[in-house]
Amino acid sequence: MSVFCYNKNEGKYENMGQITFNEELYRNLLQTSGFGKEFLWTDITGSTNDMAIELSSRNCAEGAVVVADRQLKSRGRMRREWLSPAGGLWFSIVLRPVVKDLRPLTLIFGASISDSIEEITGIPCRFHWPNDLYAGDCKLGGILMESRFLGNKPEYIVAGIGINLNFPATELGENLLTKPTTLLDLTGKETVREELLAEILLRLEQDYGEFLKNGAESLIEKYKNRCATLGRCVRIIRDRENVEDGVAVDLNYDGGLIVESSDGSRRTLYSVERLILLQKL
Ligand code: BTN
Repeated sequence: MSVFCYNKNEGKYENMGQITFNEELYRNLLQTSGFGKEFLWTDITGSTNDMAIELSSRNCAEGAVVVADRQLKSRGRMRREWLSPAGGLWFSIVLRPVVKDLRPLTLIFGASISDSIEEITGIPCRFHWPNDLYAGDCKLGGILMESRFLGNKPEYIVAGIGINLNFPATELGENLLTKPTTLLDLTGKETVREELLAEILLRLEQDYGEFLKNGAESLIEKYKNRCATLGRCVRIIRDRENVEDGVAVDLNYDGGLIVESSDGSRRTLYSVERLILLQKL
């Protein structure tokens, strides 16, 4: 159901997006065996990642999902502010993997989610290393994997996912780092949140199962064509004094991005402050 608010300045009603989650519809559409079965919806919260971390400490099932219509203190990578107006798909999943190297998981999840978005909306969507979802050269969403370990034992592992869905990108204001877009702007119509979430959870569950069983190799091979970064000139910003350009040539099976410099040398990146896509080759 869409909610309309009267905008006095414009003198007209504005669609504020779909802000009531239809749990019955979601449950009818959900085809997973575990992911999303334990489910919590809230109209407003600080951050769904914080709620998922809290759930995790209370021994919830793996794959438990928290969805919020709006978040007031949501965060992105490098603890950047993440705006979460009504109409977006903002959710977090509790994970309890037994494998030690979780680095490829963000990449696998990003590719898997971009597959689901394209399937449901028809909009070509790509994953941009390390954690962005892109449509063309605009940012459509992002993934924030958060974990804490006590020695070797994970205290929590949470995957937070934000997708700009049923609101115009103008609601996100000016963003100096990336140009945002939304599925409403791209398709001109509302996407059914419940349907997209059910589809995402199904694919994530399948890919996560494959990752736990056989590792990242075959998934990363399968998803290379979903990575918007590959084949592109990139600017790597480690910090203000440490900036260099190169070409993103490959993905490592441990989730790293292989970048070639102009002298032909190659290095594998695991963490950067920012990675900017430069002009197309
Ligand atoms: C990024 O692009 O830097 C990642 C953005 C991740 C945002 C999502 S929205 C749901 C979850 N809750 C948060 O506070 N962050 C993630």
